[in-house]
Amino acid sequence: MRKLAAQIEQAAETIRSRWSARPRVGVVLGTGLGTLAGEIETHAALDYASIPHFPRSTVATHTGQLVCGTLCGLPVVAMEGRFHAYEGYSHRQITFPIRVMRALGAETLIVSNAAGGLNPRYSLGDIVAIDDHINLMGGNPLVGVNDDRLGPRFPDMSRPYDPELNDRALEAARRENIVAHRGVYAAVAGPNLETRAEYRCLRALGADLVGMSTVPEVIVAVHGGMRVLGLSIVTDLCFPDDLEPADIERIIATAAAAEPKLRRIVLGVLEREAS
Ligand code: HPA
Repeated sequence: MRKLAAQIEQAAETIRSRWSARPRVGVVLGTGLGTLAGEIETHAALDYASIPHFPRSTVATHTGQLVCGTLCGLPVVAMEGRFHAYEGYSHRQITFPIRVMRALGAETLIVSNAAGGLNPRYSLGDIVAIDDHINLMGGNPLVGVNDDRLGPRFPDMSRPYDPELNDRALEAARRENIVAHRGVYAAVAGPNLETRAEYRCLRALGADLVGMSTVPEVIVAVHGGMRVLGLSIVTDLCFPDDLEPADIERIIATAAAAEPKLRRIVLGVLEREAS
């Protein structure tokens, strides 16, 4: 897999030619959460299409650029728009930008997403700090020949989400009077929403949330030795015995309405990180 390392380096070189700082943190901004990008003091913004080997975003709600700058005084690189397996990308393609963030120097990854809530204690718009995950996507970005320079063949997954960052996120939520939980995120391929039997099954498996993203990025981040913070917004309630038809417009609107909460939590965590 020398080819992958060479592609990562080419992409990183293109970004360095526009922005020479070494990012401390990489951020993936998911559905309805893009406005955090507006808080970044932007030094360079690169369209994905201008970065070698980057996949291109096809989802209308995602813009598709890499924003480089500072947030709370910390150098950060943020993906405005992410890639999903249901769009037809391979797991390697989805996670390529994470490899590039790591190559640029980012040691921490913050990922956000919209997710369905399986835990009956959750309400619409609640925030969940992802404590663990279940990969049910039917794919894995690490399949194939391993390049030991990028990470180990058999990476440990006993703590994919950094407990300290998790605690800090929940502390920040508490300070701001934001309802936040700790939960297990199950990742499915999508793009259809789940059947009642699937929601029942996911709950029985131990999941509190279900979504169609995040896990490939987290696997690659852990492989590369990054600390990870994952945050979900509960955008629909997936209670199998009382299930309403999914309303995608409502899901997007719920994510957008909860976005300021997530932004405050992320800023709270980064302020601690910067101090
Ligand atoms: N299922 C899968 N993905 C999702 C959901 C859901 O209910 N809500 C938001 N993303």
